[in-house]
Amino acid sequence: MKRDVNIVLTGFMGAGKTTIGGVLGKKTGRSFFDTDVIIEECCHMSIKDIFAERGEGYFREVEKKVVLDVSGRKRCIIACGGGVVKNRDNMDSLRRNGIIVCLKADADTIISRVGNDINRPLIYGLTRPEVEKLMKEREPFYSTADIFVDTSHKSPEELSEEIISLCDL
Ligand code: S3P
Repeated sequence: MKRDVNIVLTGFMGAGKTTIGGVLGKKTGRSFFDTDVIIEECCHMSIKDIFAERGEGYFREVEKKVVLDVSGRKRCIIACGGGVVKNRDNMDSLRRNGIIVCLKADADTIISRVGNDINRPLIYGLTRPEVEKLMKEREPFYSTADIFVDTSHKSPEELSEEIISLCDL
């Protein structure tokens, strides 16, 4: 294992990227970055307001710059927004020095975790079939990861240990 490699967490909204990323950061002593948090800091706006006032296109532009920047770091844990995977350039940058770990969860778990989260404009208010449709559309992008971990029935603590072991950290 290359010591400097980043651990990059991808997956659908509510899969647990931010929570598990934070635990992984503490357990490994690595710096933890969350692309959504950096975007909010850069724009001085919440994700919800960026989508509402500037639109998704603008959000994706900022996201691409943020991804390029964090990809250049070393030995970090990086939690990506759920849509980062849709952009080929994003994934090429992240892969250059990163192991891509896709966190998965079933639709019921996703909906119970974030279905009512107003700060997640792409899922807020969707019906179950609509969430399932979006998950299906995203699946080909998530499927390119190096490692897959199901977060539906385990604690962030257990999952972090699993990722540490799978990535040989
Ligand atoms: C998005 C996921 C969100 C956030 C934005 C768009 C997506 O991040 O980046 O609302 O396209 O799936 P989380 O996956 O952390 O919810």
